[in-house]
Amino acid sequence: MPAQRSSAPSPRAPLLFGGDYNPEQWDRSVWLEDIALMREAGVNIVTLGVFAWGLLEVDDDRWDWGWFDEVIGLLARSEISIDLATPTASPPIWLHREHPEILPVDRRGIRYHQGGRLQWCPSHPVWQRYASRVATRLGERYGQHPSVTMWHISNELGGGNRRCYCDQSTFAFRAWLERRYGTVDALNAAWGTAFWGHRYRRFDDVLAPLDSESAQNPSLVLDFDRFSSDALLDHFRMERDALRRAGVTAPITTNLMVAPQGSVADYASWTQDLDVIAIDHYTIADDPHRHRELSQVAARTRGLAPSRPWMVMEHSTSAVNWQVRNSPKAPGEMLRNSVQHVAHGADGALFFQWRASASGAEQFHSAMVPHAGAETRQWREVVELGSTLASISDVAGSLVERSEAAILTDDVSLWAWQAGQKPLNDHALHEDGRRWFEALSTHGFGPDVLPSHASLDGYRLIVLPSLYLVDDETVERVMRAADAGATVVVGALSGIADADNRIRLGGYPGAFRDFLGIFGEELHPLLRGETVLLGSGARVADLITRVRTTDAEIIDSYADGPLEGMPAITRRRFGRGQAWHVSGLIQDGLDAVVTTLAQAAGISRRLPATATVEAVRRVSADGSWLFLINHGTADEEIEAWGADAISGRPAEGLFHLDAGAVAVIRERRG
Ligand code: GLA
Repeated sequence: MPAQRSSAPSPRAPLLFGGDYNPEQWDRSVWLEDIALMREAGVNIVTLGVFAWGLLEVDDDRWDWGWFDEVIGLLARSEISIDLATPTASPPIWLHREHPEILPVDRRGIRYHQGGRLQWCPSHPVWQRYASRVATRLGERYGQHPSVTMWHISNELGGGNRRCYCDQSTFAFRAWLERRYGTVDALNAAWGTAFWGHRYRRFDDVLAPLDSESAQNPSLVLDFDRFSSDALLDHFRMERDALRRAGVTAPITTNLMVAPQGSVADYASWTQDLDVIAIDHYTIADDPHRHRELSQVAARTRGLAPSRPWMVMEHSTSAVNWQVRNSPKAPGEMLRNSVQHVAHGADGALFFQWRASASGAEQFHSAMVPHAGAETRQWREVVELGSTLASISDVAGSLVERSEAAILTDDVSLWAWQAGQKPLNDHALHEDGRRWFEALSTHGFGPDVLPSHASLDGYRLIVLPSLYLVDDETVERVMRAADAGATVVVGALSGIADADNRIRLGGYPGAFRDFLGIFGEELHPLLRGETVLLGSGARVADLITRVRTTDAEIIDSYADGPLEGMPAITRRRFGRGQAWHVSGLIQDGLDAVVTTLAQAAGISRRLPATATVEAVRRVSADGSWLFLINHGTADEEIEAWGADAISGRPAEGLFHLDAGAVAVIRERRG
């Protein structure tokens, strides 16, 4: 049964605020304190039951609903909505004892053991039977409960079972390949199996890319990643359909893990199935640019479904427990993080978890209520966040103002780079995109970050920083956008591979060579620490390309290094637009390049961002809100007109923003 999108939350609903609530870890007396504290903080929704399967289905088809009914009743009476989770992220111990065959198998061919979570193979029929049954029972029991306003399928699908190499997965993979290629000859051609003579006689010859001493075929590895993403999506659909059949009408979602370095699934192909896009995001304590990474993830999330608000299903109030050094967030950092998400289009900021656990695997993870209780800075900050979100609740339903600049990025392209050996095997492909995002953001262009299949209509500047794999359809669409007037920028590692993860031949970047009017002879990785200067003063690291122009103008050249004097940045007029190529990975000096490109594209700054103040605008038919977040240690004066919805202070041209502070300016019209 298809998802019933009509039941999505009303656009006027307040911003959602709350977190994962795991009352099964606590005595009933604590539940009452929980409710009192939730009310104090203004919590309006909790995610319930994520890991409760073993306490609900206590043995095969033997159910204990009493305690759960009681918790749901308590929340309902307190007018706290429930995002009810199907508990399939953590199967009960009895299920693994009875059916160890559902445990995933790793790439060495070794089966995992009970005791963790997401320990199941999505393609296993026995697993599917049990997972579907628990979803059905929950749907039948609570599907019409008025306080259950959202459903949450499993938890972080793929975060523990991203790839399963068991026999059932192998059978499903072969069937998937047969649907994709039709004949084994087509598969042999697509994967180039003449290499090492690895020709398949029939689909049954194909195995998942299990470990061998040497490298695997990158086309096989990429297709297995695609299959694994589809297998998890099929699992989501199976649970969702079970809920719908059982009578659930509320929106259904699951928490995605959008990651700049490549997500565990190809989320761009999942969004049509989700009534609400929801993500989990955690900052990395020892990353000094962690707030920028957060913005990039948030921008990527809104790019997955630009016409819909989304929500943060989980982030942390402070430290996590899974990094090497789990430093707490600085005072004010949690508020800034939550407001950043809302600035980028989230209609809610929820946390893992409500109350910090005393026991279990995550006992040192921060929560809304810390181990030390409510007489703490952390709790005071949670209460402050609740009131901040309440003061800006009218942004709910609005969308981030569309940018004139777009950055294309793609999980599949990132996986393609990670599959098999490459000219730089220690290079994180996504870093280039991050630098472009930062440069465009700090210059006030507020770039949209889009999957490669997104519509490019209306964008004046389109950057493909390191879109390693591009399919033919994307190549066509990018060229059409340039023809219609856009300035397109192709980075050094973009357009190298085709949809099958084969190299596009005839000169790099094969996908765009003629479009750009250049001919790349050789990719030239630089050694670690080696950098090369451009005439303009920009500095390149990691990779340069030996390029000659065939029909392009040279804008900048290498000023030193192995390719001294050769073209570094080129431009070609194309239709009503332009095609630029940047043949090295620019590490410093992208700011000047961005300024030049913005002039070429005819776009101007539309947000008062600075190097430390993040600025994002949300708009609706009712008004516009300028979010300002000062990540720096100095106060700043920012151009703004209107009034700050949080402090009530007017903004009459120049608005004073303290170091570390946030403001949401309800902008004056005209
Ligand atoms: C993920 C999971 C949560 C919790 C947090 C810890 O987001 O969904 O259950 O484990 O990580 O950071």
